[in-house]
Amino acid sequence: MMPEIFTSRIKLRAFRESDLDEFAAMNADERVMKYFPATLTRQETIELMRRIDDHEKKHGFTLFALEDISTGKFFGFTGAAVPAFDAHFTPCVEIGWRLAFDFQGKGLATEAALATVNYAFAHLGVSELVSFTFKGNLPSRRVMEKIGMAYHPEEDFLHPQLAREHHLAPHVLYRRKR
Ligand SMILES: CC(C)(COP(=O)(O)OP(=O)(O)OC[C@H]1O[C@@H](n2cnc3c(N)ncnc32)[C@H](O)[C@@H]1OP(=O)(O)O)[C@@H](O)C(=O)NCCC(=O)NCCS
Repeated sequence: MMPEIFTSRIKLRAFRESDLDEFAAMNADERVMKYFPATLTRQETIELMRRIDDHEKKHGFTLFALEDISTGKFFGFTGAAVPAFDAHFTPCVEIGWRLAFDFQGKGLATEAALATVNYAFAHLGVSELVSFTFKGNLPSRRVMEKIGMAYHPEEDFLHPQLAREHHLAPHVLYRRKR
């Protein structure tokens, strides 16, 4: 069971089927998916929601849906996950985030990510968290810095699920110990 966590502006909670319309719209938005190889179709978002649920069944934790406390509106996710690929830093627990375009630029990702870090270190029994992103994804890298993660340039890597020559393949790795 995913807990509910409250910050001053955000409720972090388990995904619900009723999030589908807003989640699908967010994943179909080219502005949100700028640093991903493609936007997602509605069917791909349904499959992603299934994988989020399966991850919880397998590992006991997964991504949190984010809800705006003042309006009850779904606006994205943050959370911890076990990467489904092999790399020099796996196995590990990573933290990640994705926000609907209208909710970006207000400090919400940082607020939710900090809550996720505290939850992960308190409840998941991990001594270290990693985060990674496309090298040019400066907003995401800034969130990593703001939540106390450190960049390790010697650990830059090509994402193994992308072709080596893909322009989004170069990735950076950040780490934070408990
Ligand atoms: C990454 C993301 C979650 C950040 O969300 P957010 O709520 O806007 O983040 P915050 O407001 O907490 O912090 C963003 C920081 O990046 C900075 N930033 C934004 N655009 C920037 C740019 N082009 N260059 C440098 N810094 C930038 C902001 O100024 C802010 O830092 P500051 O507080 O020091 O001013 C959001 O942009 C997003 O959902 N992107 C699409 C999905 C994605 O790429 N996810 C990450 C995949 S690994």
